[in-house]
Amino acid sequence: MTSNRIKQTAQKIALLRDHFIHHDRFEPLENRFSLLIEKRLADCEAGRTSEAHGLALSGLSGTGKTSAMDQLMMRGRQRLDRSGHQSFSNFSIRVPSPATLKFVGQTLLRALGYQISSERQAWYIWDLVRHHLKERKVLFVHLDEAQDLASRGTRHELNSVASMLKTLMTDPEWPVGIILSGTPELEDILNHDPQLARRMDTVHFESLSPVAHGNDVLDLIENYCSKAKLEPGPDILELAHGERLIHGAANQFGLVIELTLAAIEQAYLADVSRLTRSHFSQAYHLRTSCTDMFNPFVIPDFHRIDARQVFARERR
Ligand SMILES: Nc1ncnc2c1ncn2[C@@H]1O[C@H](COP(=O)(O)OP(=O)(O)O)[C@@H](O)[C@H]1O
Ligand SMILES: [Mg+2]
Repeated sequence: MTSNRIKQTAQKIALLRDHFIHHDRFEPLENRFSLLIEKRLADCEAGRTSEAHGLALSGLSGTGKTSAMDQLMMRGRQRLDRSGHQSFSNFSIRVPSPATLKFVGQTLLRALGYQISSERQAWYIWDLVRHHLKERKVLFVHLDEAQDLASRGTRHELNSVASMLKTLMTDPEWPVGIILSGTPELEDILNHDPQLARRMDTVHFESLSPVAHGNDVLDLIENYCSKAKLEPGPDILELAHGERLIHGAANQFGLVIELTLAAIEQAYLADVSRLTRSHFSQAYHLRTSCTDMFNPFVIPDFHRIDARQVFARERR
Protein backbone atom coordinates (compact mmCIF):
# COMPACT_ATOMS: atom_id res chain seq x y z
CA MET A 1 0.00 0.00 0.00
CA THR A 2 1.48 3.36 -0.96
CA SER A 3 1.90 6.02 1.67
CA ASN A 4 0.05 8.35 -0.66
CA ARG A 5 -3.04 6.19 -0.51
CA ILE A 6 -2.87 6.09 3.28
CA LYS A 7 -2.61 9.86 3.40
CA GLN A 8 -5.51 10.36 1.01
CA THR A 9 -7.64 7.89 2.96
CA ALA A 10 -6.96 9.76 6.19
CA GLN A 11 -7.90 13.07 4.58
CA LYS A 12 -11.12 11.76 3.05
CA ILE A 13 -12.20 10.07 6.28
CA ALA A 14 -11.53 13.28 8.22
CA LEU A 15 -13.86 15.14 5.86
CA LEU A 16 -16.58 12.52 6.28
CA ARG A 17 -16.17 12.70 10.06
CA ASP A 18 -16.78 16.42 10.02
CA HIS A 19 -20.21 15.91 8.60
CA PHE A 20 -23.02 16.01 11.17
CA ILE A 21 -26.05 13.82 10.44
CA HIS A 22 -29.36 15.43 11.29
CA HIS A 23 -31.17 12.57 12.94
CA ASP A 24 -34.76 13.09 13.96
CA ARG A 25 -33.89 13.30 17.65
CA PHE A 26 -31.79 16.40 17.07
CA GLU A 27 -34.55 18.76 16.01
CA PRO A 28 -36.63 18.55 19.21
CA LEU A 29 -33.43 19.05 21.20
CA GLU A 30 -32.51 22.09 19.15
CA ASN A 31 -36.01 23.54 19.43
CA ARG A 32 -35.88 23.26 23.19
CA PHE A 33 -32.48 24.87 23.43
CA SER A 34 -33.50 27.68 21.05
CA LEU A 35 -36.52 28.39 23.22
CA LEU A 36 -34.34 28.51 26.34
CA ILE A 37 -31.96 30.95 24.62
CA GLU A 38 -34.81 33.16 23.44
CA LYS A 39 -36.37 33.26 26.90
CA ARG A 40 -33.09 34.34 28.45
CA LEU A 41 -32.53 36.98 25.78
CA ALA A 42 -36.07 38.29 26.27
CA ASP A 43 -35.41 38.57 30.01
CA CYS A 44 -32.09 40.32 29.42
CA GLU A 45 -33.66 42.79 27.01
CA ALA A 46 -36.47 43.57 29.43
CA GLY A 47 -33.98 43.93 32.30
CA ARG A 48 -35.68 41.05 34.13
CA THR A 49 -33.62 38.53 36.08
CA SER A 50 -35.91 35.58 36.53
CA GLU A 51 -34.12 32.31 37.24
CA ALA A 52 -32.60 30.43 34.32
CA HIS A 53 -33.73 27.01 33.16
CA GLY A 54 -31.65 24.16 31.83
CA LEU A 55 -31.65 20.92 29.93
CA ALA A 56 -30.39 17.40 30.65
CA LEU A 57 -29.60 15.00 27.80
CA SER A 58 -29.05 11.36 28.69
CA GLY A 59 -28.28 8.26 26.65
CA LEU A 60 -25.93 5.29 26.63
CA SER A 61 -22.31 5.69 25.60
CA GLY A 62 -21.89 5.96 21.82
CA THR A 63 -25.40 7.17 21.17
CA GLY A 64 -24.28 10.57 19.89
CA LYS A 65 -24.76 12.97 22.81
CA THR A 66 -21.41 14.77 22.63
CA SER A 67 -21.74 15.21 18.86
CA ALA A 68 -25.28 16.53 19.24
CA MET A 69 -24.26 18.94 21.99
CA ASP A 70 -21.27 20.23 19.98
CA GLN A 71 -23.61 20.89 17.10
CA LEU A 72 -26.15 22.50 19.40
CA MET A 73 -23.58 24.84 20.91
CA MET A 74 -22.28 25.78 17.47
CA ARG A 75 -25.77 26.57 16.25
CA GLY A 76 -26.49 28.46 19.47
CA ARG A 77 -23.47 30.63 18.70
CA GLN A 78 -24.71 31.25 15.15
CA ARG A 79 -28.15 32.10 16.46
CA LEU A 80 -26.73 34.71 18.83
CA ASP A 81 -24.55 36.20 16.08
CA ARG A 82 -27.38 36.34 13.56
CA SER A 83 -29.71 38.11 15.95
CA GLY A 84 -27.23 40.84 16.89
CA HIS A 85 -26.33 39.28 20.27
CA GLN A 86 -22.61 38.84 19.60
CA SER A 87 -21.68 39.94 23.11
CA PHE A 88 -23.47 36.95 24.70
CA SER A 89 -21.86 33.53 24.90
CA ASN A 90 -22.27 29.90 25.95
CA PHE A 91 -19.56 27.62 27.35
CA SER A 92 -18.93 23.93 27.24
CA ILE A 93 -16.66 21.78 29.41
CA ARG A 94 -16.16 18.10 30.01
CA VAL A 95 -16.61 17.34 33.70
CA PRO A 96 -13.10 16.69 35.05
CA SER A 97 -12.08 13.79 37.21
CA PRO A 98 -12.26 13.84 40.17
CA ALA A 99 -15.47 15.83 39.88
CA THR A 100 -15.07 17.76 43.10
CA LEU A 101 -16.67 21.16 43.50
CA LYS A 102 -13.29 22.82 43.43
CA PHE A 103 -11.96 21.00 40.37
CA VAL A 104 -15.17 21.59 38.38
CA GLY A 105 -14.93 25.29 39.27
CA GLN A 106 -11.30 25.47 38.18
CA THR A 107 -12.04 23.77 34.87
CA LEU A 108 -14.87 26.17 34.19
CA LEU A 109 -12.69 29.12 35.07
CA ARG A 110 -10.03 27.89 32.65
CA ALA A 111 -12.65 27.56 29.91
CA LEU A 112 -13.59 31.16 30.62
CA GLY A 113 -9.95 32.06 29.96
CA TYR A 114 -8.83 32.50 33.55
CA GLN A 115 -6.08 30.50 35.28
CA ILE A 116 -5.99 30.20 39.04
CA SER A 117 -3.73 28.55 41.58
CA SER A 118 -5.16 25.32 42.96
CA GLU A 119 -4.34 26.53 46.48
CA ARG A 120 -7.49 28.61 46.41
CA GLN A 121 -10.57 27.45 48.24
CA ALA A 122 -13.67 26.28 46.43
CA TRP A 123 -15.85 29.23 47.50
CA TYR A 124 -13.26 31.68 46.19
CA ILE A 125 -13.01 29.85 42.84
CA TRP A 126 -16.80 29.82 42.41
CA ASP A 127 -17.06 33.51 43.28
CA LEU A 128 -14.65 34.14 40.44
CA VAL A 129 -16.59 31.79 38.14
CA ARG A 130 -19.78 33.73 38.81
CA HIS A 131 -18.01 37.01 38.27
CA HIS A 132 -16.64 35.89 34.90
CA LEU A 133 -19.91 34.34 33.80
CA LYS A 134 -21.48 37.73 34.26
CA GLU A 135 -18.61 39.64 32.66
CA ARG A 136 -18.67 37.38 29.60
CA LYS A 137 -22.48 37.50 29.48
CA VAL A 138 -22.66 33.71 29.53
CA LEU A 139 -26.20 32.47 29.01
CA PHE A 140 -25.57 28.72 29.23
CA VAL A 141 -22.89 26.43 30.58
CA HIS A 142 -22.77 22.90 29.21
CA LEU A 143 -21.23 20.08 31.26
CA ASP A 144 -20.53 16.92 29.26
CA GLU A 145 -20.11 13.52 30.97
CA ALA A 146 -22.20 15.00 33.76
CA GLN A 147 -22.85 11.56 35.28
CA ASP A 148 -19.34 11.86 36.73
CA LEU A 149 -20.67 14.59 39.01
CA ALA A 150 -22.77 11.89 40.65
CA SER A 151 -20.50 8.85 40.54
CA ARG A 152 -17.00 9.99 41.36
CA GLY A 153 -17.60 12.38 44.20
CA THR A 154 -18.80 11.53 47.66
CA ARG A 155 -22.38 12.17 48.72
CA HIS A 156 -21.21 15.37 50.31
CA GLU A 157 -19.61 16.50 47.04
CA LEU A 158 -22.79 15.68 45.15
CA ASN A 159 -24.77 17.90 47.52
CA SER A 160 -22.38 20.77 47.04
CA VAL A 161 -22.18 20.41 43.25
CA ALA A 162 -25.98 20.23 42.96
CA SER A 163 -26.43 23.27 45.13
CA MET A 164 -23.79 25.18 43.16
CA LEU A 165 -25.61 24.43 39.90
CA LYS A 166 -28.80 25.70 41.53
CA THR A 167 -27.02 28.81 42.76
CA LEU A 168 -25.80 29.56 39.23
CA MET A 169 -29.31 29.20 37.82
CA THR A 170 -30.92 31.39 40.47
CA ASP A 171 -28.20 34.05 40.79
CA PRO A 172 -30.14 37.30 41.32
CA GLU A 173 -27.65 39.32 39.27
CA TRP A 174 -26.78 36.97 36.44
CA PRO A 175 -28.61 33.62 36.26
CA VAL A 176 -26.94 31.03 34.02
CA GLY A 177 -28.71 28.07 32.42
CA ILE A 178 -27.11 24.67 32.92
CA ILE A 179 -27.03 22.01 30.20
CA LEU A 180 -26.03 18.53 31.32
CA SER A 181 -25.25 15.62 29.02
CA GLY A 182 -24.13 12.15 29.96
CA THR A 183 -25.08 8.54 30.53
CA PRO A 184 -28.39 7.78 32.25
CA GLU A 185 -26.70 7.86 35.67
CA LEU A 186 -26.74 11.63 35.35
CA GLU A 187 -30.42 11.40 36.27
CA ASP A 188 -29.18 10.53 39.78
CA ILE A 189 -28.17 14.17 40.17
CA LEU A 190 -31.66 15.35 39.28
CA ASN A 191 -33.32 12.66 41.41
CA HIS A 192 -31.06 13.66 44.24
CA ASP A 193 -32.22 17.25 44.12
CA PRO A 194 -35.86 17.99 43.20
CA GLN A 195 -35.26 21.74 43.23
CA LEU A 196 -32.63 21.29 40.53
CA ALA A 197 -34.84 18.87 38.58
CA ARG A 198 -37.68 21.40 38.57
CA ARG A 199 -35.48 23.78 36.59
CA MET A 200 -34.35 21.22 34.00
CA ASP A 201 -36.07 19.83 30.90
CA THR A 202 -34.96 16.27 30.23
CA VAL A 203 -34.29 14.62 26.88
CA HIS A 204 -33.28 11.01 26.41
CA PHE A 205 -31.57 9.57 23.32
CA GLU A 206 -33.01 6.07 22.99
CA SER A 207 -30.92 3.20 21.67
CA LEU A 208 -31.70 1.91 18.18
CA SER A 209 -33.54 -1.34 17.67
CA PRO A 210 -32.65 -3.65 14.76
CA VAL A 211 -36.33 -4.20 13.97
CA ALA A 212 -37.47 -0.58 14.12
CA HIS A 213 -34.40 1.11 12.63
CA GLY A 214 -32.94 -1.42 10.18
CA ASN A 215 -34.20 0.52 7.15
CA ASP A 216 -33.14 3.91 8.53
CA VAL A 217 -29.64 2.56 8.91
CA LEU A 218 -29.62 1.36 5.29
CA ASP A 219 -30.54 4.92 4.24
CA LEU A 220 -27.69 6.17 6.39
CA ILE A 221 -25.22 3.80 4.71
CA GLU A 222 -26.40 4.90 1.25
CA ASN A 223 -26.04 8.50 2.29
CA TYR A 224 -22.46 7.90 3.46
CA CYS A 225 -21.65 5.94 0.28
CA SER A 226 -22.76 8.83 -1.86
CA LYS A 227 -20.69 11.30 0.19
CA ALA A 228 -17.74 8.89 0.04
CA LYS A 229 -18.19 8.42 -3.71
CA LEU A 230 -18.46 4.65 -3.29
CA GLU A 231 -21.03 2.39 -4.83
CA PRO A 232 -22.98 0.39 -2.21
CA GLY A 233 -22.68 -3.36 -2.89
CA PRO A 234 -25.96 -5.33 -2.96
CA ASP A 235 -25.02 -7.21 0.24
CA ILE A 236 -25.05 -4.01 2.30
CA LEU A 237 -28.43 -2.85 1.06
CA GLU A 238 -30.28 -5.85 2.47
CA LEU A 239 -32.33 -5.29 5.59
CA ALA A 240 -30.31 -8.03 7.32
CA HIS A 241 -27.20 -5.89 6.93
CA GLY A 242 -28.88 -2.96 8.65
CA GLU A 243 -29.78 -5.30 11.50
CA ARG A 244 -26.24 -6.67 11.70
CA LEU A 245 -24.82 -3.20 11.78
CA ILE A 246 -27.15 -2.04 14.56
CA HIS A 247 -26.37 -5.17 16.51
CA GLY A 248 -22.61 -4.84 15.93
CA ALA A 249 -22.83 -1.22 17.09
CA ALA A 250 -24.44 -2.28 20.36
CA ASN A 251 -27.64 -0.49 19.22
CA GLN A 252 -25.99 2.92 19.37
CA PHE A 253 -26.44 5.49 16.62
CA GLY A 254 -22.96 7.00 16.94
CA LEU A 255 -21.30 3.57 16.86
CA VAL A 256 -23.26 2.72 13.69
CA ILE A 257 -21.63 5.78 12.12
CA GLU A 258 -18.19 4.90 13.49
CA LEU A 259 -18.38 1.38 12.07
CA THR A 260 -19.64 2.66 8.71
CA LEU A 261 -16.74 5.12 8.49
CA ALA A 262 -14.31 2.37 9.48
CA ALA A 263 -15.72 0.16 6.69
CA ILE A 264 -15.37 3.02 4.18
CA GLU A 265 -11.79 3.41 5.32
CA GLN A 266 -11.14 -0.25 4.48
CA ALA A 267 -12.61 0.24 1.00
CA TYR A 268 -10.41 3.30 0.43
CA LEU A 269 -7.32 1.46 1.59
CA ALA A 270 -8.11 -1.44 -0.75
CA ASP A 271 -8.60 1.12 -3.51
CA VAL A 272 -11.95 -0.30 -4.65
CA SER A 273 -15.02 1.63 -5.76
CA ARG A 274 -17.63 -0.55 -4.07
CA LEU A 275 -18.41 -0.84 -0.35
CA THR A 276 -19.31 -4.40 0.66
CA ARG A 277 -20.05 -6.42 3.77
CA SER A 278 -16.47 -7.69 3.87
CA HIS A 279 -15.30 -4.11 4.57
CA PHE A 280 -17.63 -4.03 7.56
CA SER A 281 -16.33 -7.35 8.84
CA GLN A 282 -12.72 -6.18 8.46
CA ALA A 283 -13.54 -2.92 10.22
CA TYR A 284 -15.24 -4.78 13.06
CA HIS A 285 -12.29 -7.12 13.38
CA LEU A 286 -9.85 -4.21 13.55
CA ARG A 287 -11.92 -2.37 16.13
CA THR A 288 -12.55 -5.32 18.41
CA SER A 289 -9.84 -7.90 17.66
CA CYS A 290 -12.63 -10.49 17.70
CA THR A 291 -12.28 -13.68 15.72
CA ASP A 292 -14.72 -14.44 12.89
CA MET A 293 -16.80 -16.53 15.29
CA PHE A 294 -17.70 -13.35 17.16
CA ASN A 295 -18.00 -11.09 14.15
CA PRO A 296 -21.64 -10.07 13.46
CA PHE A 297 -20.78 -9.39 9.80
CA VAL A 298 -19.56 -12.96 9.37
CA ILE A 299 -21.71 -15.43 11.28
CA PRO A 300 -25.40 -16.04 10.43
CA ASP A 301 -26.70 -16.03 14.02
CA PHE A 302 -25.18 -12.66 14.85
CA HIS A 303 -27.81 -12.02 17.56
CA ARG A 304 -25.89 -14.12 20.05
CA ILE A 305 -22.89 -11.75 20.08
CA ASP A 306 -22.84 -9.31 22.93
CA ALA A 307 -21.49 -6.24 21.15
CA ARG A 308 -22.08 -3.94 24.11
CA GLN A 309 -19.44 -5.77 26.08
CA VAL A 310 -16.97 -5.42 23.23
CA PHE A 311 -17.53 -1.68 22.97
CA ALA A 312 -17.70 -1.17 26.72
CA ARG A 313 -14.20 -2.61 26.90
CA GLU A 314 -13.03 -0.30 24.14
CA ARG A 315 -14.63 2.95 25.31
CA ARG A 316 -13.73 2.66 28.96
N1 LIG B 1 -25.21 13.12 14.35
C1 LIG B 1 -24.00 12.62 14.07
N2 LIG B 1 -23.43 12.85 12.85
C2 LIG B 1 -22.23 12.33 12.56
N3 LIG B 1 -21.51 11.57 13.39
C3 LIG B 1 -22.01 11.30 14.61
C4 LIG B 1 -23.28 11.81 15.02
N4 LIG B 1 -23.55 11.38 16.27
C5 LIG B 1 -22.48 10.63 16.63
N5 LIG B 1 -21.57 10.57 15.64
C6 LIG B 1 -20.31 9.80 15.65
O1 LIG B 1 -20.42 8.80 16.64
C7 LIG B 1 -19.34 8.87 17.56
C8 LIG B 1 -19.89 8.66 18.96
O2 LIG B 1 -20.75 9.73 19.26
P1 LIG B 1 -20.62 10.60 20.60
O3 LIG B 1 -21.32 11.89 20.34
O4 LIG B 1 -19.23 10.66 21.07
O5 LIG B 1 -21.49 9.69 21.60
P2 LIG B 1 -21.72 9.84 23.15
O6 LIG B 1 -21.25 11.21 23.55
O7 LIG B 1 -23.20 9.65 23.33
O8 LIG B 1 -20.93 8.73 23.78
C9 LIG B 1 -18.70 10.22 17.36
O9 LIG B 1 -17.33 10.12 17.42
C10 LIG B 1 -19.11 10.63 15.98
O10 LIG B 1 -18.10 10.22 15.09
MG1 LIG C 1 -19.85 11.74 24.92
